[in-house]
Amino acid sequence: MNYDIFIRLLAPYHAVLVHFPVAIWTTVTMVVVLRAFSDGVLARAAERILPLLVLLGVLSGLAAFVAGFFIFSLTAAGASPLIRNHIIAASWSLGYWTVFLISIWRIGTRTWEGTNRWIMLALALLGTLFITVTGTVGGHIAGNPTSVSMMLKMVGWDVYDTFFVPDAMLWAIVAGAVVLPIIGWIGRSRA
Ligand code: HEM
Repeated sequence: MNYDIFIRLLAPYHAVLVHFPVAIWTTVTMVVVLRAFSDGVLARAAERILPLLVLLGVLSGLAAFVAGFFIFSLTAAGASPLIRNHIIAASWSLGYWTVFLISIWRIGTRTWEGTNRWIMLALALLGTLFITVTGTVGGHIAGNPTSVSMMLKMVGWDVYDTFFVPDAMLWAIVAGAVVLPIIGWIGRSRA
């Protein structure tokens, strides 16, 4: 059976679906900012919707991610530095917000106690950065560039050039993968 017709039909839905994770994760960050700075009634009410909101962002992000691969063949997508960069940024966004979801689900009500709230704020702002980069590069592919790419160029990355993770970053990731579980284990045994 020739699946080509389904692929052609699905391709335009990427541009439709991407609005959901972009809008939902941005809303999540706004709620986190509100909750980080306020213990008021509105902030507490907004906090309760957070896990569901992040979950919807992750599910719609996953749908957008899959639909992205229906636009061009893998050979064509893989040949373009711009699309490769977009796939990397989309993978970071999706992976990152999935970890964020697991964190708030596991930590529960303690999410906003003490320094935890500032850690959540930093994490939400970092997630917003990832989705901003994903959307910016996507916009360049679709022919809707924004000046965010000029800001990225100022910090040394031209979105049209293949992004390489610096070697130092790889060492930082390995160090993090070893050190963070140890910190978690020590913290747990003290609790
Ligand atoms: C979290 C996942 C993703 C998000 C949030 C996302 C976001 C975006 C955005 C905002 C645009 C610009 C749309 C426009 O201006 O009309 C775009 C375009 C595009 N994206 Fe993605 N993307 C994701 C994953 C992917 C993946 C995995 C691929 C795989 C190749 C991909 C391929 C494309 C292509 C080819 C375009 C330009 C053509 C079009 O808009 O239909 N995207 N994306």
